[in-house]
Amino acid sequence: MSALLSLRDVWVEYGDRIVIEKLDLDIAAQAFVSIVGPSGAGKSSFLRLILGQEAPTRGTVLLDGIPLVPECGPDRGVVFQRYSVFPHLSVLRNTMFGLECPKAPLSGRLFGSARRAARDEAVAMLEAVGLGDSLDLYPAQMSGGMQQRLAIAQALVQRPRILLLDEPFGALDPGIRADMHALITRLWRDYSLTIIMVTHDIREAFSLGTRVLTLDKRRHDPHAPHRYGATVVYDLPLRNRTDEADCESDSITIDDIGNN
Ligand SMILES: Nc1ncnc2c1ncn2[C@@H]1O[C@H](COP(=O)(O)OP(=O)(O)O)[C@@H](O)[C@H]1O
Ligand SMILES: [Mg+2]
Repeated sequence: MSALLSLRDVWVEYGDRIVIEKLDLDIAAQAFVSIVGPSGAGKSSFLRLILGQEAPTRGTVLLDGIPLVPECGPDRGVVFQRYSVFPHLSVLRNTMFGLECPKAPLSGRLFGSARRAARDEAVAMLEAVGLGDSLDLYPAQMSGGMQQRLAIAQALVQRPRILLLDEPFGALDPGIRADMHALITRLWRDYSLTIIMVTHDIREAFSLGTRVLTLDKRRHDPHAPHRYGATVVYDLPLRNRTDEADCESDSITIDDIGNN
C-alpha cells in the first residue's frame, strides 16, 4: 500500500540547532495519527513541514509520492490551539474567508453566484460543526470550544484531505473537550480525513488516534543540547477504532509504551 504522506530522511535545523533528525515515516490515508512528545521536541515544526510552511533542511516530504510544494495547499488544513480565527470577522465571514482567499487572493472577496455558492458551503460546514445557529456572532462573543469549532470549520471548508491539529483542545475545559473529541471523530469519518494531531494529553492521543507517535531525542549531549534532534522513538499502531464505546474502553497507559 502506498502512503499518502512519506517523509524520507528528513532533518530540520535552525542554524546549528538540530530540531528533527533522520525522520523516516509513512502515513496512510485516513489514519488518525496522534503525536506526543516533550515540549520543544519539534512537534509543531513537524506539522509545519507537512503543511509546507517549512522546507526540510535535508530530506524529502512526499504527498502521494510527489515532493510537497513549499506552500499551503488546499489539500492540507490546520487548526492551532487558539487564535486561528479572525476576530474582526463574523462566524460566517470567517468560514467564507477560507473559500474566498484561494479563489480571489487579491481582494479576498467573491461576488454574485460564486459568493452565494461559497456562502452555502460555509453554512453547511458550520452546521456540521454545530455552529449553524451562530453565523453572525463574532469570536469574542463565543466560548473557547465554539471558537475551536469555528477554526475547524474554517480549515475543513476548503475540503482538505489532511487535517493538522496542533494541541487543538488543550485550552478547553474537560467537558467541552469530550464534545470536541466526538466532533472530530465524526468529521474524520464523514469527510474521510487523514488527521495528524499533536497533543499533550496522552489519553486523548490514545482514545482518538489509530496510531500514536512519540517524537523525542534518542541521544542527549548535556554539553551541546542542540547537537541532536528528535525523531520518532515510539510508533504504536492501535487496534482499529470501530465505535465510540470501543475506543473509550481501549485506554492504554504510558507504561504500555515501553513494552512495545
Ligand atoms: N523558526 C525557528 N527558528 C529557530 N528555532 C526554532 C524555530 N521554530 C522552532 N524553533 C525551535 O525548535 C524547537 C522545536 O520547536 P517546536 O517545533 O515548536 O516544538 P514543540 O511543538 O514540540 O514544542 C524549539 O527548541 C524551538 O525553539
Ligand atoms: Mg508546539
